[in-house]
Amino acid sequence: MEQYIIKGGVPLHGEVSIGGAKNAALGILAAAIMTDETVTIENVPNVRDTRVLLQAIEGIGAKVKYVYNNSVQINGGSICDFNVDYEYIKKIRASYYLLGALLGKYKCSQVALPGGCNIGSRPIDQHIKGFKALGADVVIEHGKISTKAEHLKGGHVYFDVVTVGATINLMLAACLADGDTILENAAKEPHIVDVANFLNAMGANIKGAGTDVIRIKGVSRLHGTTYSIIPDQIEAGTFMFASAATHGDVVVKDVIPKHLESLSAKLIEVGCQVIEGDDWVRVIGCDELKSTNVKTLPYPGFPTDMQPQMSVVLALANGSSMVTESIFENRFKYVDELNRMGCKIKVEGNTAYIEGVRRITGAQMSAPDLRAGAALVIAALSAEGLSEIDDIEYIQRGYEDFEGKLRGLGAVIERIDSEREAQKFKLKIG
Ligand code: UD1
Repeated sequence: MEQYIIKGGVPLHGEVSIGGAKNAALGILAAAIMTDETVTIENVPNVRDTRVLLQAIEGIGAKVKYVYNNSVQINGGSICDFNVDYEYIKKIRASYYLLGALLGKYKCSQVALPGGCNIGSRPIDQHIKGFKALGADVVIEHGKISTKAEHLKGGHVYFDVVTVGATINLMLAACLADGDTILENAAKEPHIVDVANFLNAMGANIKGAGTDVIRIKGVSRLHGTTYSIIPDQIEAGTFMFASAATHGDVVVKDVIPKHLESLSAKLIEVGCQVIEGDDWVRVIGCDELKSTNVKTLPYPGFPTDMQPQMSVVLALANGSSMVTESIFENRFKYVDELNRMGCKIKVEGNTAYIEGVRRITGAQMSAPDLRAGAALVIAALSAEGLSEIDDIEYIQRGYEDFEGKLRGLGAVIERIDSEREAQKFKLKIG
């Protein structure tokens, strides 16, 4: 079992380059099978979730070729199976994008019910409601969800909650339906816009992505294209908050600063200096972080995927803070681990009450999910002494070469997978 060993207490310094957005990539890779022509997708983060999705895409007969580490060619012309039951697919949430993509292209699809991070119950009722509005029958049986449509036609969907997944899934299915579709109360995240731009580059007709009303005119076919995925807002945010928590000075490169505004605003509130360039942001930490309150909200609000990293920063701030989670109900599982490091955090309902402390100490911890895992790494980097973090496969789902990028900023971190390697590393760092 791999783990991270981290020696904390070193302020991060230097420059780090951000990869493509995982959550955009998952929608775009699924969308790529919707044409029989070859699609080239660049800036694909090479992380566990994208690799699993690509294996599933290969599993149904599409051709997948890595051109370089972050560039992938997909040809969906040879798909022979509309039933996605690849062993690992249940582990990734975005497997459900194949439902919408296959339904749009072949008018039927079957996918094992999705899993993903255990951050609360994650219903898919809005996806189902949307597919039905396009004229599809949807059945859940034997742990699988199946869709079928004699005639897939445009429809009007008003989402009851703002959902990224259902918004993307409905864009996928509707772009090859007959007639017009309107999606209201749609999610507005940058990756929604990226998936829409990609589909449009393949010949779809989608307008309004990035606002809460998306209008889609169905087209009869999509064609090949070459497309580069936007930078990952959450990977960028994680390094920005790591700079703040370690009192560092980090330039986060290859980003779209506009997508990071809610994060920059909070960092300024806690006393950091944030300088923005065209495609970079620099976060200069301060000696004494200030407390503040945060509530997670759909974009452009503060992202739920940055909530654990924000809590770590506030756990080290001077004074009392409140972090309210309004998207997922089970996203505070990392708090017990932080408290074992000396943090003072109490969770009541969907709010964490944080009493800032000046000093925390390294501990043995387990990553409970992807973003919480990243937050524990930030905490370990800020702590005195050694930390060991288990279950880092969660972190590898969404961060490419996390430890390598952190080492580039001066962090003392190693990924090890045996007791021998652990001893060797501990001896080396003294
Ligand atoms: C996506 C992201 C995830 C991020 C989340 C919110 C991917 C692969 N994952 O997850 O990293 O944390 O957006 O920004 O892109 N809901 C329903 N019914 C549904 C669908 C969702 O009630 O049919 C609820 C969820 O329980 C949740 C809220 O809507 O409370 C938002 O979920 P959603 O935006 O769909 O999250 P995901 O797409 O699963």
